Amino acid sequence: IIKNMNSKELFKWYEKNHRKLKFRETKNPYHIWISEVMLQQTQVDTVLPYFSSFIEKYPDVKTLAKTDLETVLKSVEGLGYYRRFRNMHKAAVYIHENLEDIFPSTYKDLLKLPGIGRYTAGAIMSIAYDQPYSALDGNVIRVLTRYFNIDWDMSLEKNRKLLDQKNQEIIENMPSANIYTQSMMEIGALVCRPTETKCMVCPFKDECLGYKNNNALEYPISLKK
Ligand code: ADE
Repeated sequence: IIKNMNSKELFKWYEKNHRKLKFRETKNPYHIWISEVMLQQTQVDTVLPYFSSFIEKYPDVKTLAKTDLETVLKSVEGLGYYRRFRNMHKAAVYIHENLEDIFPSTYKDLLKLPGIGRYTAGAIMSIAYDQPYSALDGNVIRVLTRYFNIDWDMSLEKNRKLLDQKNQEIIENMPSANIYTQSMMEIGALVCRPTETKCMVCPFKDECLGYKNNNALEYPISLKK
């Protein structure tokens, strides 16, 4: 069932349809980290100008670490959820003081940093380092639960962990971890949207159970909140 995910159609679709976003022009793991932290609670269009000016002000982890927290917070004013930027600064200071300004390059080491959980570590590993690590965000949860008609309650951490494992198996069988992660996020953003699906232009049309059973919009199931 897992090996059937059609990477050929998916990658072809991504090549042709993905948005040319500033944070997609780089494989610098520090830059990818900044973008993923910003994107976790904020929409792409809002993030773009903040991302560009942030990278201009703090082009590397050392510059960020040596800037005081209040100044960094001012440069993200308006984005909200400031705890993520406090953690980000803390992580930069840690890398500066303990890792000689070298950004970690293993999943295990990334997870040790404040504010970096499975999602962010997986996003950095797959997008920046092209290594097969699952990055399960809301977009990917939506695409996978629809594709496989997975009826688990996704408000439960236990079930998100199970789907994360499934996504891990999938990415390990993909020809490129980078393109897989980015294309799944892009399908979620452009095609398999929360309240509207564009199945006619979806590269998964021939395999997706949500399309076959005409029930995509019933997923993901979330019983809490
Ligand atoms: N949302 C979170 N990460 C993203 C990415 N890399 N591309 C598009 N949307 C995203």
